[in-house]
Amino acid sequence: MNELADNAKTPDTSLDDIEIELFIRALKLRYGYDFTQYAPASLKRRVLQLAHAQEAATVSELTTRLLHQPDFLPVALEGLSVPVSEMFRDPDVFLALREQVLPVLASYPQINIWQAGCAHGQEVYSLAILLEEAGLYDRTQIYATDFNESALRHAQEGIYPAREAQLWSRNYLAAGGKHTLADYYSARYELIKLDQRLRRNVIFANHNLVTDEVFCEAHLVLCRNVLIYFSDPLQDRTLALFRDSLVRGGFLCLGTRESLDFAPSASDFTPVDAARRIYRLGPRGTGKE
Ligand SMILES: C[S@@+](CC[C@H](N)C(=O)[O-])C[C@H]1O[C@@H](n2cnc3c(N)ncnc32)[C@H](O)[C@@H]1O
Repeated sequence: MNELADNAKTPDTSLDDIEIELFIRALKLRYGYDFTQYAPASLKRRVLQLAHAQEAATVSELTTRLLHQPDFLPVALEGLSVPVSEMFRDPDVFLALREQVLPVLASYPQINIWQAGCAHGQEVYSLAILLEEAGLYDRTQIYATDFNESALRHAQEGIYPAREAQLWSRNYLAAGGKHTLADYYSARYELIKLDQRLRRNVIFANHNLVTDEVFCEAHLVLCRNVLIYFSDPLQDRTLALFRDSLVRGGFLCLGTRESLDFAPSASDFTPVDAARRIYRLGPRGTGKE
């Protein structure tokens, strides 16, 4: 046995883990995308899935492509970012936004909403429909952000597989929809296209929650199913970013598997509907500024 080589091994670190660490480091050094504070288990799963999908024999092969083929970057980001969404996902959350949040937002002459991690835009269009039906959309600006450029392009187009429409229509009605979802899209062959008038007050922009700063002064920040991918310190940083973006009395809506419970900024917020992860900045009853 070669004693020297044996001693040099780090017993707890698998080859996969070493290669993944190098891949993540290459992504940061070469392009500035920082995944070092993402939750390790799900990140590992996604890197291995990417290697499988790209028919790479090892993660190191992905690292070589990343370093030497600039057009591999969007492929890597797409693989790591999970831009999965649906319209009116968790309809009871959208019902709560409709019934508990929009009536308060109605008191502002101009409403700013930041939707962070917008993926392919399904939530943005859902929000626009809610606001339209509440008669608030014409005085609302929605900033829809993501760090995945190709997801943002997809979001802007608003084109989705028609097979999704059935579930989304049910969601829409369960969220208190006043018409039928079909009123908001046109269908052609296997695709539906959301009414582009719904986009009229949406600005799509690239924003990275890990490295970028406060985005706008918002009355509502909606960021769902993004924090689950982050480590605790990164979740804390992101929640502080949302707190700093909100006007006093502004609302924060997180995903149903995310919560403020153990975050340092928890004490800055009051639950409005804890089950639906809707919070308000400041003590209960805080008015607008
Ligand atoms: C699972 S999707 C959530 C989509 C939608 N919010 C929902 O709940 O249906 C997660 C999104 O977060 C985005 N994301 C992940 N890390 C991010 C970061 N550091 N900055 C901005 N967006 C990020 C991904 O690109 C992806 O589109």
